Amino acid sequence: MPVPLRILAIESSCDETAAAVLENGRALHSSVIATQIDLHAQYGGVFPEVASRQHILTIYGVVDQALKQAHMTPQDVDLVAVTQGPGLAGSLVVGLNMAKAIAQARGIPLVGVNHLEGHIYSAWVYDADRYGSADAIPAEPQFPLLALLASGGHTELILISGHLQYQLLGRTQDDAAGEAFDKVARLLGLPYPGGPSIQKSAEGGDPDAFKFPRARLDNPWDFSFSGIKTAVLRTVKGYEEAGKALPVADIAASFQYTAVDTLASKTFAAARHFGAKQLLVAGGVSANRALRAAFTGQTEFTVHIPQFSLCTDNAAMIGAAGYYRFMAGQRSQLDLDALPVWPLSSLA
Ligand code: KG4
Ligand code: ZN
Repeated sequence: MPVPLRILAIESSCDETAAAVLENGRALHSSVIATQIDLHAQYGGVFPEVASRQHILTIYGVVDQALKQAHMTPQDVDLVAVTQGPGLAGSLVVGLNMAKAIAQARGIPLVGVNHLEGHIYSAWVYDADRYGSADAIPAEPQFPLLALLASGGHTELILISGHLQYQLLGRTQDDAAGEAFDKVARLLGLPYPGGPSIQKSAEGGDPDAFKFPRARLDNPWDFSFSGIKTAVLRTVKGYEEAGKALPVADIAASFQYTAVDTLASKTFAAARHFGAKQLLVAGGVSANRALRAAFTGQTEFTVHIPQFSLCTDNAAMIGAAGYYRFMAGQRSQLDLDALPVWPLSSLA
């Protein structure tokens, strides 16, 4: 048995300050997430300066707590993984500086991780405490994998042929799926972040009440969510002008149904086309219950969806991706800089 590699991971790319401790890229010992949602809700979205300031205030405590929950000290850590990008520059540097300080003080390697690759690797993570024997641990995703990455900033279909091997098949031409949930929620007067609000409201609504449009695109693996957003806006205005009460739950349910069905059916079609037997769904929108049901409710493909707490931003996923990067020989230097724009397709 090789010696286990204990990884301390740090994530601060947007509005979550997070730290986690993992062993060998899959077994999660602790995951601490300090969310800033309440701070940003008053602005209806993430306010960059407020985010970076809050990261500075919370990061030390978050890292300390992650180590304590894993019953470790910095002396027990073998590798530091940190989100290098994409994300907000001022937020990223807070995590990077903390990671560099620990790596330098301990004389251990540092790996800068792409946040999107992190979301993908969230599907490899399992809670170390929950599985007693090696036989019981959840099966690893098998390649080739067809991945749907749907978050607040990205919506992409990716063919993954092996560890760290990505082929971008299609992406959104306008809004990301999570962004569409957030914008539609705002139109309906539902609180930020929109994903969970829409989901909650949709539970009391009729998904067939409204028929919202689906985009037709040249590349069948691309997405577009601006048309459906505009259709919701028109519907809302129609009710306002008529002085009628807005059927919020019905609109939320109909929007959610169309968005989820578009995401799921394109993923299934791409998997068939490219011969992938397994699917991976990740990113904040994969927390959506209707989306999870659309994927788990079919038997044609084996589906890997991260546990609920690892769908939205967290550090466990950064540790998992960092492990596979480290095993592939990647090392970052202490002059590692934030990459606010860093598409997955540019990763070698
Ligand atoms: O991955 P994530 O935490 O941050 C980014 O990297 O963007 O994703 C955040 C996005 C937000 O747009 C949020 O509305 C959406 O994920 N989201 C959801 C749900 N939970 C979070 N969308 C739909 N249903 C949900 N339950
Ligand atoms: Zn994210």
